[in-house]
Amino acid sequence: MASTTGHGLQDLLAGRLSVKSYVERGLTGETLMSALGSVAGTTANGHRTAPSARESYPIAVTVVAARVDGVEAGGYRYDSGSHALEPVTSGDLRAKLASATLDAGWVTKCPALLLLSADLRAARTRFTDQPPEHGERFVWLEAGCMAQNAYLWAADQGLGTVLIAGLDEVRAEQVTSGLIPAGHDLLAILPLGSRAED
Ligand SMILES: Cc1cc2nc3c(=O)[nH]c(=O)nc-3n(C[C@H](O)[C@H](O)[C@H](O)COP(=O)(O)O)c2cc1C
Repeated sequence: MASTTGHGLQDLLAGRLSVKSYVERGLTGETLMSALGSVAGTTANGHRTAPSARESYPIAVTVVAARVDGVEAGGYRYDSGSHALEPVTSGDLRAKLASATLDAGWVTKCPALLLLSADLRAARTRFTDQPPEHGERFVWLEAGCMAQNAYLWAADQGLGTVLIAGLDEVRAEQVTSGLIPAGHDLLAILPLGSRAED
């Protein structure tokens, strides 16, 4: 995904950082779609922007939109192939998601959150020629690649994100029921927003 602001890769890596302090400012719909295209969009060869063991792409991206121009508050699934959002549920879901983190109540200030999820039980049976734990491990590694895409996108845009993987699993299961695909576990939250120091 080409930089939209003319930064080279070395600049983006030098500017990469975890942002945990945000101002309450909305995002444009275009900016949200640009983030999604960077995190999980389609590449020139028809793959995705993050690598996936045997092209399995087991990770779904669900958007919790709260203050995004042209996007009603609610939950949406990102479809990589069509680069489009499909509505899942309505309302401002940020406080619920905040309650599933261990110490990231500040995500309620972010205009949008990206939820990465996957069916970890299915992952354990995916690669029959390898031990079950490999399948699950590959999902977590892929989530890390997607997160780095988000970090580089944010560095390019002068916006903030952070990989939040410290989650209360019981609470996460409760608050994501009906939001992420059935059978999926919440792997991580990537908030998007404007850095407080800007
Ligand atoms: C696997 C992983 C899990 C993380 N989980 C959380 C988290 O639950 N909450 C949080 O605030 N930050 C989380 N972070 C972000 C780290 O706190 C952050 O990367 C660290 O402070 C270093 O800052 P930097 O990314 O700017 O170098 C996580 C980072 C990684 C790589």
